[in-house]
Amino acid sequence: MCGIVCYVGRKEVKPILLEGLKRLEYRGYDSAGLAIQDGNRIELHRAVGKIAELEKEVNDVNIRGTMGIAHTRWATHGEPTEENAHPQRDQDENTFVIHNGIIENYLSLKRMMERQGITFRSETDTEILAQLIGLNFDGSLHEAVRKSLSQVEGTFGVAVIHKSTPHEIVVARRGSPLIIGVSDHGHFVGSDIAAMVTYTNKVVHLRDNEMARLTVDDFSISTAQAKPIERSLETVEWRAEEAELNGFPHFMLKEIYEQPETIKNAIRGRLEPSEGVPKLGGIEPVWEKLKECRHMVIVACGTSYYAGCVGMYIFEKLTEIDVEVELASEFRYRKLNFPRNTFVVAMSQSGETADTLAAIKEARRKGASLLGIVNVVGSSITRETDAGIYNHAGPEIGVASTKIFTSQVTILTLLAVLLGRHQKLSLTEGVEIIRALQALPNQVKKVLSQSNHIQAIAEKYYGCGNWLFLGRKYNYPLAMEGALKLKEISYIHAEGYAAGEMKHGPIALINPKMPTVAVVPKDDMYEKMISNIHEIKARKGPVIAIATQGDDKIKAMVDEMVEIPPTFDFLNPILAGVSCQLLAYYCASFLGREIDKPRNLAKSVTVE
Ligand code: F6R
Repeated sequence: MCGIVCYVGRKEVKPILLEGLKRLEYRGYDSAGLAIQDGNRIELHRAVGKIAELEKEVNDVNIRGTMGIAHTRWATHGEPTEENAHPQRDQDENTFVIHNGIIENYLSLKRMMERQGITFRSETDTEILAQLIGLNFDGSLHEAVRKSLSQVEGTFGVAVIHKSTPHEIVVARRGSPLIIGVSDHGHFVGSDIAAMVTYTNKVVHLRDNEMARLTVDDFSISTAQAKPIERSLETVEWRAEEAELNGFPHFMLKEIYEQPETIKNAIRGRLEPSEGVPKLGGIEPVWEKLKECRHMVIVACGTSYYAGCVGMYIFEKLTEIDVEVELASEFRYRKLNFPRNTFVVAMSQSGETADTLAAIKEARRKGASLLGIVNVVGSSITRETDAGIYNHAGPEIGVASTKIFTSQVTILTLLAVLLGRHQKLSLTEGVEIIRALQALPNQVKKVLSQSNHIQAIAEKYYGCGNWLFLGRKYNYPLAMEGALKLKEISYIHAEGYAAGEMKHGPIALINPKMPTVAVVPKDDMYEKMISNIHEIKARKGPVIAIATQGDDKIKAMVDEMVEIPPTFDFLNPILAGVSCQLLAYYCASFLGREIDKPRNLAKSVTVE
């Protein structure tokens, strides 16, 4: 996720910005840059790759100055190139902007400015902001930023400097966090505390729809309507390493907690609620073909594969497309039939998984059209596919995938609704599903609010060496994903099964020391799952149920219960998925495992 660090004060700014950027490295990035006011010039330097590249470049030039803005970029609009890195500037090179977030109406704003003769250098949505602020500048930077942001739809944490207003930084927030830091030699701005933790622990959190103006000796906060706001300083007690984790003990837990936001990011700007239809700009190049598609193969590995399996059931429910899901590593050994107009959908967090890339090549050879659902912009899979949809979930640092699973299921649902609305879904059905998607972030928060309860369950059972996860239909792949999460970070042996298969073998394992996680929301598989629970209880196996909120019938039957809010059957795996992630996390934590870097595993598997 992009990072922001800014300083205006009495000290030389270059080392402060470089130090802040290094502290923000943990967020993941693909390029970095800074702009420093040096006399009446603004020096701009940007580099693709590590901060060390940028450092090399700026160390070779003599830049003095006590005010500047700097940024680590995680590409969203446009590939990681120097021209797309931040700061972005306006045509006349007066206004310099760094930005976290996504400007949704950037295309219409771009067209509007192109008609006024503005030429653009980058593919970023951030340049739109720089150009707009440049156009609106009339002596007051604060006013130009305020006016420009009122024309913008989307999310931002933004910091702006202008050549003719030296010693002044204007910042604004809608959706993307910004923190102001106060020290005895000047003021800081950061996307999180890590950016400034070496220099100060006195901070003020900017809230949504607020702006601030910072100078060497002063800062002032106002609403987006320019109404002044008073806010007192807070003291943060974090050390530098804790700041990177935003107070969480591990990246995995931090990422589990990011899910209300990452689900929002997956649907942001992609819904037409009144039409009951999503809009997915990334698939426009293949749309004419895709809407006629009746056969789809999803290829992926690990957690992405399980998300694909949930997607298969969703497509069956909402569309007329036959969907198969294949492990990318097995794909080339299959002799799959590719009827005319088959789409192969490659799904991957990293976009670099070697098996998935090999499957794409094989599918291309067989004449399929290729779609990517990928988190990392500009990664290999995005280049090898004909079109695609990004997760916009920010970097996932914990090796175990969490926020990407729920984001992938959300995006597959969007795609299924879009195609389904062209096939069999009514307007009312489309509208209802969109409403359910919009409700998901708050529902995930409700699951997260049971964290202490889930931790207590984990404390009771983490000593058990074998676990079973059971589910049916949409929750069968979720059971496999739940088992994968537990085994990979806690090293506890776990199996995920279709509950109907239990009687064909795994039931032999059930005993009082083997917990079963039964995913049993109130859906059309409910009664059948209840029979499975009876079978386990009859053999004295402990049962941890993930069930619909307020389901007293299940509560009375099982040993432990985690509640998920009611939603459409096919969205239950998202809510149940979060519960399984927390359960796995706390088991691993009680066992003292190295959660973010489990043994033998790599985040990106680039070998076949
Ligand atoms: C499990 C996990 C892995 C990945 C798999 C695919 O928690 O992270 O199973 O899901 O290696 O990786 P991507 O999605 O990057 O292709």
